Amino acid sequence: MNLEKNVPLQPYNTFGIVAKARALVRVRGEDDLLAVLGDPQLATLPRQVLGGGSNIVLTGDVKALVLKVEVPGVRLATETDKHWIVEAGAGVGWHDLVTWTLVNGYPGLENMALIPGSVGASPVQNIGAYGVELQDRFDSLEAMDLFTGELFCLNAAQCGFSYRDSVFKHSAGSDGLGLAGRAVILRVRFALPKRWKPELGYLDLERKIAETGIRAPDARQIFDWVCAIRRAKLPDPQVIGNAGSFFKNPTVSAEQCADIIAREPKVVHYHLDDGRIKLAAGWLIDACGWKGKSVGHAGVYEKQALVLVNRGGRENPCTGGEVMTLAKAIQTSVYERFGIRLEPEPVVI
Ligand code: EPU
Repeated sequence: MNLEKNVPLQPYNTFGIVAKARALVRVRGEDDLLAVLGDPQLATLPRQVLGGGSNIVLTGDVKALVLKVEVPGVRLATETDKHWIVEAGAGVGWHDLVTWTLVNGYPGLENMALIPGSVGASPVQNIGAYGVELQDRFDSLEAMDLFTGELFCLNAAQCGFSYRDSVFKHSAGSDGLGLAGRAVILRVRFALPKRWKPELGYLDLERKIAETGIRAPDARQIFDWVCAIRRAKLPDPQVIGNAGSFFKNPTVSAEQCADIIAREPKVVHYHLDDGRIKLAAGWLIDACGWKGKSVGHAGVYEKQALVLVNRGGRENPCTGGEVMTLAKAIQTSVYERFGIRLEPEPVVI
């Protein structure tokens, strides 16, 4: 096991916030975790799992032992009548996995191209984009219990997926089901359909079909479209630090929505299967005039109000405190105008 002390975390979070880990262990497989659990000094420390760092806000140095997940490898693990089962190490970059599956002839992840972060983080918040969510392509995952050192496998039902949520985001409650702080995901298996069909039921993709006249795109074409759409409206974290959408899209009851529409007829909303209505948080924030505003070096992206960005680059980066002050000011103004409480997507550390 390789224990590193006072490790700068700026390269490991996509906001580019400056902070240090007092102690960090790189986890390339189960042996590294077992070594941590077997070490009398390390075993007692609180722990913080770090994946691709694309969904976190660091508000100070991390005192917990950072377990930086770097499990490598992608392979076709097996196949069933209907699916190719592809297995990827938790440390593999998400976009690298999407690219690998397309190059090797196993389509199905293309709508989720260019989502920042790692394979291991993808089930934690059930990532999704352009009409496909991780849970639609998920087979199972392998994780280690940090208290007992046991390896275990979870299927989709056991992961408790819902919109940007899973059992990995919840602490063990009275039902004992939450796994936050308890488990480290080591490998994820994806079920990619042998009879692939394009998923095109999303406005931005319908626009691409209309623009290009390509009515039956293949997976590579959808991948290219999704990359182009994302590049046009989301900042590249390599250039401008950010953590993707900063707030979840809130859901409201039909009555609440009718009330908001009566006051704000243009509010962008989508009807869900259960009768509730999802509102576009980006629209709500934009309507409150936040695009382009800043607190210190933290700002609201000019082209998409849902994304908070680091305007100071690597040299003069924003602090986590500035990001959270800005986020709270946005939450207050959206609440005052629409009566809706926005919930942040990233984990605040
Ligand atoms: N809008 C505005 N002003 C803005 C931003 C958005 O008026 O500043 C309007 C747009 O015109 C659009 C609506 O709000 O009518 C929704 O915006 P958009 O289509 O950009 O998608 P989103 O709901 O903001 C979600 C996910 C993204 C995912 C896209 C595409 C969440 C919180 N975000 O964004 O996921 O890529 O759909 O599927 O669910 C992420 O989670 O980090 C993420 C980027």
